[in-house]
Amino acid sequence: MKNADLAALIRTIPDYPKPGIQFRDITTLLLDGPGFALSIERMAAEIASPPDLIAGIEARGFLFGAALAHRLGCGILLLRKQNKLPGRVTGINYALEYGHDRIEMHADAVQPGQSVLLVDDLIATGGTALAGTELLRSAGAKVAHAAFAIDLPDLGGAARLRANGVDVTALMA
Ligand code: PRP
Ligand code: ADE
Repeated sequence: MKNADLAALIRTIPDYPKPGIQFRDITTLLLDGPGFALSIERMAAEIASPPDLIAGIEARGFLFGAALAHRLGCGILLLRKQNKLPGRVTGINYALEYGHDRIEMHADAVQPGQSVLLVDDLIATGGTALAGTELLRSAGAKVAHAAFAIDLPDLGGAARLRANGVDVTALMA
Protein backbone atom coordinates (compact mmCIF):
# COMPACT_ATOMS: atom_id res chain seq x y z
CA MET A 1 0.00 0.00 0.00
CA LYS A 2 1.34 3.45 -0.92
CA ASN A 3 1.03 6.54 1.25
CA ALA A 4 -1.41 7.77 -1.38
CA ASP A 5 -3.63 4.79 -0.54
CA LEU A 6 -3.40 5.56 3.17
CA ALA A 7 -4.64 9.05 2.31
CA ALA A 8 -7.77 7.48 0.83
CA LEU A 9 -8.62 6.21 4.33
CA ILE A 10 -8.90 9.78 5.65
CA ARG A 11 -12.11 11.65 4.94
CA THR A 12 -12.55 15.41 4.81
CA ILE A 13 -15.59 16.95 6.46
CA PRO A 14 -16.25 20.55 5.40
CA ASP A 15 -17.14 23.29 7.89
CA TYR A 16 -16.30 21.29 11.03
CA PRO A 17 -15.95 22.42 13.79
CA LYS A 18 -16.37 25.91 12.30
CA PRO A 19 -17.33 27.30 8.89
CA GLY A 20 -14.34 27.29 6.54
CA ILE A 21 -12.43 24.45 8.24
CA GLN A 22 -11.77 21.37 6.11
CA PHE A 23 -11.62 18.77 8.88
CA ARG A 24 -9.41 15.72 8.21
CA ASP A 25 -11.19 12.87 9.96
CA ILE A 26 -8.85 10.04 10.96
CA THR A 27 -11.61 7.85 12.45
CA THR A 28 -11.98 6.13 9.08
CA LEU A 29 -8.26 5.24 9.08
CA LEU A 30 -8.56 3.94 12.65
CA LEU A 31 -11.44 1.66 11.59
CA ASP A 32 -9.18 0.01 9.02
CA GLY A 33 -6.90 -2.44 10.86
CA PRO A 34 -4.31 -2.95 8.10
CA GLY A 35 -4.32 0.76 7.29
CA PHE A 36 -3.78 1.80 10.91
CA ALA A 37 -1.04 -0.83 11.37
CA LEU A 38 0.69 0.32 8.20
CA SER A 39 0.57 3.95 9.26
CA ILE A 40 2.35 3.04 12.52
CA GLU A 41 4.96 0.99 10.60
CA ARG A 42 5.54 3.94 8.26
CA MET A 43 5.90 6.33 11.18
CA ALA A 44 8.35 3.95 12.87
CA ALA A 45 10.41 3.70 9.67
CA GLU A 46 11.07 7.46 9.85
CA ILE A 47 12.62 7.21 13.34
CA ALA A 48 16.42 7.00 13.12
CA SER A 49 16.89 5.88 16.73
CA PRO A 50 14.20 5.25 19.34
CA PRO A 51 13.73 8.17 21.74
CA ASP A 52 13.70 7.84 25.52
CA LEU A 53 10.01 8.78 25.44
CA ILE A 54 7.22 9.60 23.08
CA ALA A 55 4.98 12.55 23.96
CA GLY A 56 1.43 12.11 22.69
CA ILE A 57 -0.93 15.08 22.48
CA GLU A 58 -4.55 14.61 23.66
CA ALA A 59 -6.61 13.20 22.20
CA ARG A 60 -5.85 11.92 18.72
CA GLY A 61 -2.11 12.03 19.38
CA PHE A 62 -2.60 9.41 22.11
CA LEU A 63 -3.73 6.85 19.52
CA PHE A 64 -0.75 7.23 17.21
CA GLY A 65 1.64 7.96 20.09
CA ALA A 66 0.72 4.88 22.13
CA ALA A 67 0.85 2.55 19.13
CA LEU A 68 4.23 3.98 18.07
CA ALA A 69 5.60 3.77 21.63
CA HIS A 70 4.59 0.09 21.74
CA ARG A 71 6.24 -0.47 18.35
CA LEU A 72 9.48 1.28 19.38
CA GLY A 73 9.53 -0.13 22.91
CA CYS A 74 9.58 3.21 24.69
CA GLY A 75 7.28 4.88 27.20
CA ILE A 76 4.68 7.52 26.46
CA LEU A 77 4.30 10.86 28.22
CA LEU A 78 0.84 12.40 28.10
CA LEU A 79 0.36 16.01 27.06
CA ARG A 80 -3.20 16.49 28.28
CA LYS A 81 -5.81 19.20 28.05
CA GLN A 82 -6.33 21.35 31.14
CA ASN A 83 -7.22 19.78 34.53
CA LYS A 84 -6.97 16.14 33.44
CA LEU A 85 -3.74 15.11 35.16
CA PRO A 86 -3.82 14.27 38.88
CA GLY A 87 -0.26 15.21 39.88
CA ARG A 88 1.64 18.50 39.88
CA VAL A 89 1.57 19.93 36.36
CA THR A 90 3.21 22.54 34.16
CA GLY A 91 1.18 23.91 31.29
CA ILE A 92 1.05 26.25 28.35
CA ASN A 93 -1.74 28.04 26.45
CA TYR A 94 -1.79 27.98 22.66
CA ALA A 95 -3.83 28.77 19.56
CA LEU A 96 -4.73 26.16 16.95
CA GLU A 97 -6.48 26.26 13.57
CA TYR A 98 -9.97 26.56 15.08
CA GLY A 99 -9.55 27.90 18.61
CA HIS A 100 -7.48 28.14 21.76
CA ASP A 101 -6.55 25.54 24.34
CA ARG A 102 -4.10 24.59 27.06
CA ILE A 103 -1.96 21.49 27.44
CA GLU A 104 -0.36 20.27 30.61
CA MET A 105 2.14 17.58 31.60
CA HIS A 106 3.16 16.10 34.91
CA ALA A 107 6.09 18.18 36.12
CA ASP A 108 8.09 15.04 36.91
CA ALA A 109 7.27 13.12 33.72
CA VAL A 110 10.56 13.81 31.98
CA GLN A 111 14.14 13.99 33.23
CA PRO A 112 16.45 16.74 31.96
CA GLY A 113 18.37 15.51 28.91
CA GLN A 114 15.90 12.81 27.90
CA SER A 115 15.07 12.65 24.19
CA VAL A 116 11.37 12.99 23.44
CA LEU A 117 9.63 12.35 20.13
CA LEU A 118 6.46 14.43 19.79
CA VAL A 119 3.58 12.55 18.11
CA ASP A 120 0.22 13.77 16.92
CA ASP A 121 -2.26 12.81 14.21
CA LEU A 122 -2.04 16.10 12.35
CA ILE A 123 -0.15 19.36 12.13
CA ALA A 124 -1.99 22.42 10.80
CA THR A 125 -0.84 25.82 12.13
CA GLY A 126 1.64 24.09 14.42
CA GLY A 127 0.30 25.93 17.47
CA THR A 128 -0.31 22.68 19.34
CA ALA A 129 3.00 21.02 18.41
CA LEU A 130 5.01 24.17 19.16
CA ALA A 131 3.33 24.48 22.55
CA GLY A 132 4.17 20.85 23.27
CA THR A 133 7.77 21.38 22.19
CA GLU A 134 8.10 24.46 24.37
CA LEU A 135 6.58 22.72 27.39
CA LEU A 136 8.85 19.68 27.03
CA ARG A 137 11.95 21.81 26.48
CA SER A 138 11.13 23.93 29.52
CA ALA A 139 11.31 20.67 31.51
CA GLY A 140 14.77 19.95 30.07
CA ALA A 141 13.75 17.46 27.38
CA LYS A 142 15.49 17.30 24.00
CA VAL A 143 12.87 17.53 21.26
CA ALA A 144 14.55 16.93 17.91
CA HIS A 145 11.76 15.23 15.94
CA ALA A 146 8.01 15.35 15.65
CA ALA A 147 5.99 12.74 13.73
CA PHE A 148 2.50 13.17 12.32
CA ALA A 149 0.15 11.13 10.17
CA ILE A 150 -1.01 14.25 8.31
CA ASP A 151 0.64 17.57 7.49
CA LEU A 152 -1.43 20.47 6.15
CA PRO A 153 1.55 22.39 4.69
CA ASP A 154 -0.49 25.40 3.54
CA LEU A 155 -1.10 26.24 7.19
CA GLY A 156 2.63 26.48 7.86
CA GLY A 157 2.94 24.41 11.00
CA ALA A 158 5.70 22.09 9.81
CA ALA A 159 7.78 25.07 8.66
CA ARG A 160 7.28 26.78 12.04
CA LEU A 161 8.36 23.65 13.86
CA ARG A 162 11.44 23.21 11.66
CA ALA A 163 12.34 26.87 12.29
CA ASN A 164 12.38 25.91 15.97
CA GLY A 165 14.88 23.12 15.42
CA VAL A 166 12.48 20.19 15.18
CA ASP A 167 12.64 17.68 12.29
CA VAL A 168 9.14 17.02 11.02
CA THR A 169 7.94 13.87 9.29
CA ALA A 170 4.43 13.11 8.10
CA LEU A 171 2.89 10.26 6.15
CA MET A 172 0.69 12.40 3.96
CA ALA A 173 -0.16 15.99 3.12
C1 PRP B 1 -6.09 18.76 16.62
C2 PRP B 1 -5.02 17.79 16.17
C3 PRP B 1 -3.76 18.50 16.62
C4 PRP B 1 -4.10 19.97 16.45
C5 PRP B 1 -3.44 20.51 15.22
O1 PRP B 1 -6.35 18.55 17.97
O2 PRP B 1 -5.17 16.51 16.75
O3 PRP B 1 -3.47 18.23 17.99
O4 PRP B 1 -5.54 20.04 16.34
O5 PRP B 1 -3.74 21.86 14.99
P1 PRP B 1 -2.65 23.02 14.96
O6 PRP B 1 -1.46 22.50 14.19
O7 PRP B 1 -3.33 24.17 14.27
O8 PRP B 1 -2.29 23.36 16.37
P2 PRP B 1 -7.60 19.13 18.78
O9 PRP B 1 -7.12 20.27 19.64
O10 PRP B 1 -8.74 19.40 17.86
O11 PRP B 1 -7.93 17.98 19.82
P3 PRP B 1 -8.47 16.47 19.74
O12 PRP B 1 -7.30 15.62 19.33
O13 PRP B 1 -8.89 16.24 21.13
O14 PRP B 1 -9.59 16.40 18.73
N1 ADE C 1 -6.62 20.18 13.72
C1 ADE C 1 -6.34 21.42 13.25
N2 ADE C 1 -6.80 21.60 12.02
C2 ADE C 1 -7.39 20.42 11.67
C3 ADE C 1 -8.05 19.97 10.51
N3 ADE C 1 -8.17 20.76 9.43
N4 ADE C 1 -8.54 18.71 10.51
C4 ADE C 1 -8.41 17.91 11.59
N5 ADE C 1 -7.80 18.30 12.72
C5 ADE C 1 -7.29 19.54 12.76
